[in-house]
Amino acid sequence: MRYLITAALPYANGPLHIGHLAGAYLPADIWARFLRLKGHETLFICGSDEHGVAITLRAWQENTSPQAIIDQYHPLLEKSLREVGISLDFYGRTSDPLHHQVAQHFFSTLLTKGWLEKKAVEQFWDPKAQTFLPDRYIIGTCPHCGFEEAYGDQCEKCGTLLSPTELRDPRSRLTGVTPEKRLSEQYYLRLDALQPQVEAFFRTRSWKPNVYPVIQSWLSAGLTPRAITRDLDWGIPVPDLPGKVLYVWFEAPLGYISLTRKWAESQGQPTAWERFWKDPDTRIVHFIGKDNIVFHTLVFPAILLAAGEGYTLPHDVPANEFLNLEGNKLSTSRRWTIDIHEYIAAAPDRIDELRFVLTALMPQTQDRDFTWEEYTSRINNELIATLTNLIHRILSLLWRYGNTHLVKVPDFLLQWRAETAREMAHALFSYDFSKALNTLLGLAQKANKSLTEAAPWHLQADEAQKIVAGYGDLLAAFGTLLEPFLPVHVAPTLRRYLDIQLFTWDRIEDPTPLVRELRLAAPPQPLVKKLSSEELSSLREKLLPTASPPPSTPPPSTPLTIEDFQKVLLKVVTIRAAEKVPKADKLLKLTVEADDGLHTVVSGVAQHYSPESLIGQQAIWVANLPPRTLRGIPSEGMLLFAEGENGTLVRVGPEKTVPPGSIVK
Ligand code: 2FM
Ligand code: ZN
Repeated sequence: MRYLITAALPYANGPLHIGHLAGAYLPADIWARFLRLKGHETLFICGSDEHGVAITLRAWQENTSPQAIIDQYHPLLEKSLREVGISLDFYGRTSDPLHHQVAQHFFSTLLTKGWLEKKAVEQFWDPKAQTFLPDRYIIGTCPHCGFEEAYGDQCEKCGTLLSPTELRDPRSRLTGVTPEKRLSEQYYLRLDALQPQVEAFFRTRSWKPNVYPVIQSWLSAGLTPRAITRDLDWGIPVPDLPGKVLYVWFEAPLGYISLTRKWAESQGQPTAWERFWKDPDTRIVHFIGKDNIVFHTLVFPAILLAAGEGYTLPHDVPANEFLNLEGNKLSTSRRWTIDIHEYIAAAPDRIDELRFVLTALMPQTQDRDFTWEEYTSRINNELIATLTNLIHRILSLLWRYGNTHLVKVPDFLLQWRAETAREMAHALFSYDFSKALNTLLGLAQKANKSLTEAAPWHLQADEAQKIVAGYGDLLAAFGTLLEPFLPVHVAPTLRRYLDIQLFTWDRIEDPTPLVRELRLAAPPQPLVKKLSSEELSSLREKLLPTASPPPSTPPPSTPLTIEDFQKVLLKVVTIRAAEKVPKADKLLKLTVEADDGLHTVVSGVAQHYSPESLIGQQAIWVANLPPRTLRGIPSEGMLLFAEGENGTLVRVGPEKTVPPGSIVK
């Protein structure tokens, strides 16, 4: 069987965090690595999703262009994925001209075949920003519960799905002005007419238990036509319709096709992509998070069916649920995340540890919670205590007994190993990654116990050597069984110690000795270092320096005396210089002028202000805080920012320019 594996194309508007990794990229990678070991032809692709409101909103907030945003994040996304060991065969981007061409081709084909209809709809227009507003860009009062900050597509308080015209007092999230209604024509994909074909497809697949009910409920409600064009200036132009672009959810999934084509081109075999998209012997599997289920299981298959060009439909869409952080929803805008590139910078030698913990905590059928306590205990009490300690014990014994012939591996060890590999394969084919890892840990536990009971260290050298030989075979198997999970450091280091290569998975499932002899090249060192409480505190400090969990209600205020308040020395300062802090994408280093000269303040606003936009502005400075060092930079005091919509930070300054150093009282 041939496999095409895709992982959700990340929006190039921000970094990847642990939720993305646990949700889509890690399971896709484990699966791809496993399938390759199983001997299947496997292609694993991904790329940046560079259109849509996510990008334009970010550009607007940062006062820059969408192009600048995607050019900043596209390389960062790829680098983070590669460094965390995601074994992609190709990483591309949807701004690629070939992708535009493929998406436009699909649009034109669907139009010609009659699957699109044109409808004039009333849409909101922001007169200040001179743009039509997507639903999410409009807030107003929910007609059902009265919540004043409901979004144009959904009220987050009562959960009702809305359309923006239902909101009372609608306001633009971009400018705060009241939007006007304007008539605009859009193309709609006739999902209603495609429903019979989509349903037939749905019934031929078996879906994960958390995916099935989502599709089922949409189908039983009946599919309705869906707008696939937008009035925006950022995106893929709609052929022959100036001013309109393709809706991002129409074109992004087609990226899977264009990226496969880009991969084929990069191989110098431009037609090789057809093996993956036009040959029924290929299984296409999309790894995504739960928020993308509908687009991958209904809309994308509907587009492929409507095009009628013989494209293979998805074989499966093993969506995961969400990962929370310390009990709260992850949120990039509120900085309640652990970003992958920051984790890598803070703990470059602990990538496999992160993979291990996220596999154990993978939100496969329900939301899960990442806590630092769990991170520590999974590393110290499972990864090390159960697995790598056993590996270290056996390696040390092999080293002690020298050149070890493995011809006589006891049957029970061969059976354990073969059964484990088979059980793991079964779990992996069911997308139960945590179970596969647990099965592996189960083998380590049994082996630990039996090695302790055999106690070769109490025996004569030749007797001991025979016993150790059996466990050497197990180590050789671990060199392969660990590869899908811990491929960055642990598995390759183990293989280097043993001077062996990867085996095929089937070979591990076969209960016959793997090698005839093992000879260690160097004395072994523990593969994973215990995580101390000092290391943990430093990691937490580095990774969540300015974050706070999303506020639910404002904290109760304790009564304050005027004397208390007067202890805070507030001054107006003028920002004279600003620069990004290297390797810290939240921080800016600001030089501010007060009455007593220049001061350096490190401020966590880099995701809200470009350095240039702050120069010359005035701000309020808390002048009498003790200095502290952030990322090696001594920082004095603190600048005040107000928390606006969606966690954005807004500078607070005097209404008119005043001399630097003016007291605020
Ligand atoms: O939700 C997201 O992050 C989207 N950018 C995923 C797109 S997946 C595919 F359709 F391209
Ligand atoms: Zn409501």
